[in-house]
Amino acid sequence: MAKMEVKTSLLDNMIGVGDMVLLEPLNEETVINNLKKRFDHNEIYTYIGSVVISVNPYRSLPIYSPEKVEDYRNRNFYELSPHIFALSDEAYRSLRDQDKDQCILITGESGAGKTEASKLVMSYVAAVCGKGAEVNQVKEQLLQSNPVLEAFGNAKTVRNDNSSRFGKYMDIEFDFKGDPLGGVISNYLLEKSRVVKQAGGERNFHVFYQLLSGASEELLNKLKLERDFSRYNYLSLDSAKVNGVDDAANFRTVRNAMQIVGFMDHEVESVLEVVAAVLKLGNIEFKPESRVNGLDESKIKDKNELKEICELTGIDQSVLERAFSFRTVEAKQEKVSTTLNVAQAYYARDALAKNLYSRLFSWLVNRINESIKAQTKVRKKVMGVLDIYGFEIFEDNSFEQFIINYCNEKLQQIFIELTLKEEQEEYIREDIEWTHIEYFNNAIICDLIENNTNGILAMLDEECLRPGTVTDETFLEKLNQVCATHQHFESRMSKCSRFLNDTSLPHSCFRIQHYAGKVLYQVEGFVDKNNDLLYRDLSQAMWKAGHALIKSLFPEGNPAKINLKRPPTAGSQFKASVATLMKNLQTKNPNYIRCIKPNDKKAAHIFNEGLVCHQVRYLGLLENVRVRRAGYAFRQAYEPCLERYKMLCKQTWPHWKGPARAGVEVLFNELEIPVEEYSFGRSKIFIRNPRTLFKLEDLRKQRLEDLATLIQKIYRGWKCRTHFLLMRKSQIVMAAWYRRYAQQKRYQQIKSSTLVIQSYIRGWKARKILRELKHQKRCEEAATTIAAYWHGTQARRELKRLKEEARRKHAVAVIWAYWLGLKVRREYRKFFRANAGKKIYEFTLQRIVQKYFLEMKNKVPSLSPIDKNWPSRPYLFLDSTHKELKSIFHLWRCKKYRDQFTDQQKLIYEEKLEASELFKDKKALYPSSVGQPFQGPYLEINKNPKYKKLKDAIEEKIIIAEVVNKINRANGKSTSRIFLLTNNNLLLADQKSGQIKSEVPLVDVTKVSMSSQNDGFFAVHLKEGSEAASKGDFLFSSDHLIEMATKLYRTTLSQTKQKLNIEISDEFLVQFRQDKVCVKFIQGNQKNGSVPTCKRKNNRLLEVAVP
Ligand SMILES: Nc1ncnc2c1ncn2[C@@H]1O[C@H](COP(=O)(O)OP(=O)(O)OP(=O)(O)O)[C@@H](O)[C@H]1O
Ligand SMILES: [Mg+2]
Repeated sequence: MAKMEVKTSLLDNMIGVGDMVLLEPLNEETVINNLKKRFDHNEIYTYIGSVVISVNPYRSLPIYSPEKVEDYRNRNFYELSPHIFALSDEAYRSLRDQDKDQCILITGESGAGKTEASKLVMSYVAAVCGKGAEVNQVKEQLLQSNPVLEAFGNAKTVRNDNSSRFGKYMDIEFDFKGDPLGGVISNYLLEKSRVVKQAGGERNFHVFYQLLSGASEELLNKLKLERDFSRYNYLSLDSAKVNGVDDAANFRTVRNAMQIVGFMDHEVESVLEVVAAVLKLGNIEFKPESRVNGLDESKIKDKNELKEICELTGIDQSVLERAFSFRTVEAKQEKVSTTLNVAQAYYARDALAKNLYSRLFSWLVNRINESIKAQTKVRKKVMGVLDIYGFEIFEDNSFEQFIINYCNEKLQQIFIELTLKEEQEEYIREDIEWTHIEYFNNAIICDLIENNTNGILAMLDEECLRPGTVTDETFLEKLNQVCATHQHFESRMSKCSRFLNDTSLPHSCFRIQHYAGKVLYQVEGFVDKNNDLLYRDLSQAMWKAGHALIKSLFPEGNPAKINLKRPPTAGSQFKASVATLMKNLQTKNPNYIRCIKPNDKKAAHIFNEGLVCHQVRYLGLLENVRVRRAGYAFRQAYEPCLERYKMLCKQTWPHWKGPARAGVEVLFNELEIPVEEYSFGRSKIFIRNPRTLFKLEDLRKQRLEDLATLIQKIYRGWKCRTHFLLMRKSQIVMAAWYRRYAQQKRYQQIKSSTLVIQSYIRGWKARKILRELKHQKRCEEAATTIAAYWHGTQARRELKRLKEEARRKHAVAVIWAYWLGLKVRREYRKFFRANAGKKIYEFTLQRIVQKYFLEMKNKVPSLSPIDKNWPSRPYLFLDSTHKELKSIFHLWRCKKYRDQFTDQQKLIYEEKLEASELFKDKKALYPSSVGQPFQGPYLEINKNPKYKKLKDAIEEKIIIAEVVNKINRANGKSTSRIFLLTNNNLLLADQKSGQIKSEVPLVDVTKVSMSSQNDGFFAVHLKEGSEAASKGDFLFSSDHLIEMATKLYRTTLSQTKQKLNIEISDEFLVQFRQDKVCVKFIQGNQKNGSVPTCKRKNNRLLEVAVP
């Protein structure tokens, strides 16, 4: 989850007020008190709207750490407590995201912290912009240009130990992503007079001290220098050491920085040689020497120094020596050499030193620019940082201060133009009611200085170019003439004598009432400094130097390029460059840092209210606040405003359909923001008070949190619900499965227990029964066994007795026989012949056969052919005879039986035989018919008078006359009919009336069908197309089916000589009128008794249920 942003605001834990627009009441005192209060609590930054006021703390505060950089990164300007990082971030982001070139204007008096602020801005931008090896190198070079330029361009002054003695404007260039590409530095007028002279308590430029303190012995030797500061005239001695500054360490830092920026070793060496030469120049001293013509001539006191300089710079010593002694003036191709007196020689020396140094400085800036310039030609976005020397008021203010203060005057002008004026103009443009705020416009002072016709600079130039004797005094006189009436110009010599009695205004001075206060300028040196003259002999001498760098610094010394035109004066050069700078700044979006110096002592914790009050006044801070307050603290175009706050009102959230302005109106009404708190411009909404804005912001944040909570809530709810539903579903599934499983298990248990119990009970019952049965059986068996044993015993006894008896009888008989035989043989031995035995045998046999036949006569069974009895065979050898005899007897008695039949009986048996052939083993009804005699005409039509008519109608012999049931073809119900079969016809007559209903010639009967079962149904099929067949086949039921069918068959055969087809099948087809109906015999139940029932199921089926 994204880190929750801590809700902060400028208003959180505010000390005093962070934005002075919120100050109540608003006056000078409260402003200063507020600044003081904040300063005392280490809050050195305060806002006036988007302007940052910075009070120099003079000590390092822990508010520039990388963590702080991260805090301010990508945050709203008003979100955190005021900080220079907030302004830097705002500027960088609008450069990167809105493609607006930016400039950061840092103003304030000397020592107020401008340079530090510019460095902080640069380091912040370097920290937040893109990363990568190449980008980092660019950043590093940009940052490292500072120590180099500071070493050469900064010096200790009474106001600032590290005072910038040149103006610096640096354009940092970025690509479309916001990655730095490079930069361009512009420098403005170095205070070169410092090279040769410093005011009390001040120092020369840092580099001299750094070189002497930090260089190795070897380097010093090489540069022909000595470490001792006091050896050099140009280095003032009273403040050579600065508290807390380690020159030696700084020297190393500078050399390192030069290396990073891209200086080659030989270039560094050359630069140091020039520095050494400048330093040594100061040691050249002159002495006067009277010449013959009475003029003073100067002579170099000690040529050793000159020699060393020439060795260092590769200049011919004589050339330089001459240049210090003579001045050649060229006029109209004439060269006139004049000797220089001592003062002139010193002037020449100092001019050379100043020029050498200031040109070296310009060369350094160009050299740095060469290194840091952007390598690509793509379109660049630019952030300009302006750190120009601050407004200065010294005891002795000279041309330099005049120039510096002019520059500050211009900056104030641009500030006024861009903030105050622009602000008011915007209200007018936007049609917002506006009460004009009076503010001091310093345009008038700028005009005093820079006006092309009567401005001070123009006067000075005019004076410098004027032929004749020109001195500073003549210049002042001129000023007095021209500017006397100007309200910001003061001079005692002015004709109107406004200031005649002002003793604070010396005669050789003029005073200008700058926006930041009155400054008294010593007119001395103005003309000279503006001329910035270097004798041509010197520049030529320099051009002749063997030292490449020095040679390149004096291109005008080249005799081939002698230019008689005067170079532009310092003042006009400066004016031009300031004008360019102003133009440049106007094209960019300005961001202001207004630095305030809390005390003159460079000390921490001291807040000099008087000093601050002065600055507050001249910086116009109060007016600044008033303008912001009288006007509106915040403005924004309608669209972005609506877009930002639309969630605060139901009507505008989520979409507003109308114009943005109307939407904002609705929104503000809804939020009940007091009407005086805002105004509607043409394209923007103006919010008077930052509080209102903060309120809106707070509401918005709150609302965003609410919206986030809402989204979170809905999402969480959804998530929980889905999770719950899923769980519930799973739970139900699990529960169902578990229940099923539990029930199954329970059921199985109950089942198996029941089975066990059941089996035990059954087993127990069975065993009980078994036991009883076994017992019973054993009892029975015991009785039987006992009985058997008993019977056995009895039988065996009886058998034994009978056997005994038989054996005795047999023994008696044998004995008797043997005895008889013996007696017979004894008696008849004399009568027996040899073959008597055979005769006896045959006789015996004959006797036995005789006896068999005689016995058979008595045993013959009855004459009934069906009597199966036959006596058993007495002797084995008569077996075949016995069988033969049985067969003969049977055939004989059958013959006998047949012989008794009459013809009529014979006919009856023939019919029975026929019936047997037709139906035996085919129809179940047949066996029951065998015993019934075939009577034919059961109905005695002749005798019954009821049927007389019927009898009369029939002439032929009646073969069958019987009542049958005729089955109704349509519904299967039966009606009684008299069935009559004659030789040629089959007749059906009504049973009651005897009237003939149908008559079918036998030739038309084709087939008789019946079932194989025990029923009396039969169908009579008629020839198709015959007259009788018009109603279709007949279906009858009769008790004498077998007889009737047999007789029908026989009659048909005898009449038509054709065998009638008799079909026996449980399913056959009959033709009922047009329908072919299937008669189907099924096994019926016994419900209707033993009578078969017949039912017409449908037009295709007639069902007969046979019990
Ligand atoms: N933000 C700061 N934190 C700590 N010290 C500061 C800060 N700003 C300025 N200083 C101190 O004040 C001194 C002067 O600041 P700085 O050199 O920036 O002034 P300046 O406005 O550039 O003056 P000049 O116009 O003379 O160049 C610094 O050397 C430093 O010691
Ligand atoms: Mg500075």
